[in-house]
Amino acid sequence: MKFKNMADLPIGIFDSGVGGLTVLKEIHARLPAESTIYLGDTARVPYGIRSAETVIKYSLENSSFLVEKGIKLLIIACNTASAVSLDIIRNTFKIPVLGVIDPGAKAAALATKNSRVGVIGTEATIKSGAYGRTIRRINPGISVIERSCPLFVPLVEEGWLDDEVVELIVRRYLTQMKLSNIDTLVLGCTHYPLLKKVIKKVMGDDVVLIDSAIEKAKNVSNILTSSGLLKPLDTPISRKYYVTDAPERFQEIGKRFMLEALDDITKIEIASLEEKAVALKKACGCGGV
Ligand code: DGL
Repeated sequence: MKFKNMADLPIGIFDSGVGGLTVLKEIHARLPAESTIYLGDTARVPYGIRSAETVIKYSLENSSFLVEKGIKLLIIACNTASAVSLDIIRNTFKIPVLGVIDPGAKAAALATKNSRVGVIGTEATIKSGAYGRTIRRINPGISVIERSCPLFVPLVEEGWLDDEVVELIVRRYLTQMKLSNIDTLVLGCTHYPLLKKVIKKVMGDDVVLIDSAIEKAKNVSNILTSSGLLKPLDTPISRKYYVTDAPERFQEIGKRFMLEALDDITKIEIASLEEKAVALKKACGCGGV
């Protein structure tokens, strides 16, 4: 290992695009001394409408890129990618790999008082059943009601967060959910925390909203602390961003997610991601789908 101290290495995070910045923002807030490398696969977003096989392929390529940069921990910030590819990524790489499903599922299982939990996410996340399975593994007595909300991602990317049009769409998706008497709702997609205000209005104050980005950041902080991998406060930090397309758009929309300007954005080619995954497959005979 060319680095003397593993704790000094950055945390690697990937998402299908800008959405994972909700997770990154919480990580920066909770762990301000950590360096981070974020990869947004903006050329191939959205993942939420793709087959599991395709999402696994993209996830392996993104992970290979970040692991090769030298990171101490890999976070799959995308709910869709976490739902379908976490196990295969964990089995492929030697560093710790964290997804966003477990912490959100645990927080929901703890929060519910009437054992009725709702989960909303992309089509692929809901189809995978990953949240429901994880929540029921924690407590088999909990009923889980799942619903995909495909229009929420484009609304957020368009910057439509809380006007009457957004409220109409949120009502249309969530009316059945509200009638199903849940007391806890998991926001199982990177973009949904930005719609929290309207979702809260539609679901009412009695329903607890679980933000998987906040739960992920708490989980990362606990893991780095318990494994002695927290970077010392007085060491220099770097925050780098890589995208596979349109860095200007990433910068513009990213500001909305991070509430600050994003510097140091580099565009990389999809072909180079694919090459890294092929090289990895050859080197270890793993990572095949
Ligand atoms: N990042 C995705 C997720 O959390 C949402 C956007 C997409 O469909 O790629 O599921």
